[in-house]
Amino acid sequence: MSASAQPSPWVALGPGHSYKNMMTKHVLLIIGGGIAAYKSLFLIRELSRRGISSQVILTKGGSQFVTALSAGALTNKPVFTDLWELDETGDMGHIELSRSADLIVVAPATANLLARAAQGVASDLASTTLLATDKRVLYAPAMNVRMWEAAATQRNVQTLIDDGALFVGPDAGDMACGEFGEGRMAEPEAIADAVEAALMGDTSLDALREPKPLAGQSALVTAGPTREPLDPVRYLSNHSSGKQGYAIAQALADLGAEVTLVSGPTALPAPLGVTRVVVETAEEMLAACEDALPANVFVSVAAVADWRPATRTDKKTKKPKDGPAPLELVENPDILKTICAHKKRPELVIGFAAETHDVVKLARAKRLRKTCDWIVANDVSGDVMGGDANAMILVKEDGEESWPRMDKRAAARKLAREIAKALK
Ligand code: C5P
Repeated sequence: MSASAQPSPWVALGPGHSYKNMMTKHVLLIIGGGIAAYKSLFLIRELSRRGISSQVILTKGGSQFVTALSAGALTNKPVFTDLWELDETGDMGHIELSRSADLIVVAPATANLLARAAQGVASDLASTTLLATDKRVLYAPAMNVRMWEAAATQRNVQTLIDDGALFVGPDAGDMACGEFGEGRMAEPEAIADAVEAALMGDTSLDALREPKPLAGQSALVTAGPTREPLDPVRYLSNHSSGKQGYAIAQALADLGAEVTLVSGPTALPAPLGVTRVVVETAEEMLAACEDALPANVFVSVAAVADWRPATRTDKKTKKPKDGPAPLELVENPDILKTICAHKKRPELVIGFAAETHDVVKLARAKRLRKTCDWIVANDVSGDVMGGDANAMILVKEDGEESWPRMDKRAAARKLAREIAKALK
């Protein structure tokens, strides 16, 4: 079986979740031996930020990459490494350790750990714990792309899935070994999202065993700023980095959608598996969007310039000797509104609202004005524009849902899962 056909049972947050519920939850984190082990230290911090405590089992291989001291300092709990040492303590055997947690997370889950877990080999503390547990296990695989694609690994993953295990990742991208492909451990935020969903015993877990819930669906996403030229050397634009829109395009593609990303000028590489159309002006962006229809969902993330210079000269305009600057502006087309009124209107249209005050009130009004289905509102009074994190409020017809501040990629994955649920 190829890696892309691998039915990774993705996990996601259910609707109406509450982070308060997580305060008493406890995770046993098995850190395996891979370069991605350092990311598991960030995972501990991310879980703790979400009110989830963790305790670490560090495999022998894991201890080649991170120290028990770091893991212990971050969890505030002893770190276990050795099966026999643990049993000698008398107060916490491997059986108890495996059962005292609400969930076991294996990150990074190496090919070796997956193989031993699939076969029921209990050769060290980590594998013995996995065999002894009565709790759900979430694996975050990390390995070289060839090892991930190997028939043996895919067989082991399938066995674990059949046994009820959950998986998050791996992601595709550049690898520490210099190769490129699927095998990078999922980012700590994505693993933490999956941990939360699993901890809530989300019934959608089973539904989410479907690896590509957006397979067969098409998505159109706009991202970045537009650039409105005055002359060959000057233009009007804004600070949009495109990060959020690109992350959404990637997240939708990861869930199986066929994605067209219409992007203004940014410094970002095209997301994997996404068709990118690069444009400059709002008018070009609208034309590219209309060309990309029909689509099942339109996510309008771009910070489109509301105005453009009334004239664009071929030659650089000269500074007037006196008097005001000769800058006359005309209104740009509203792409979101135009697509909402389009005869090929996608069944789900999502606009963005960046506000500095009265965020929800203005977003509600914007939803009605633009006639879109959802508005993703965010407060841009901080460093959202150009920054890596975002706190979104999803405004729908029947109410709002506030999401905590998180990495833009994690927010994108959360939105993509909401979209997948809505398009079902
Ligand atoms: O009108 P305002 O800029 O406040 O609305 C923001 C939303 O509208 C975003 O989804 C943005 O992508 C979209 N928009 C657009 N075309 C414009 C202005 C905004 O598609 N000319």
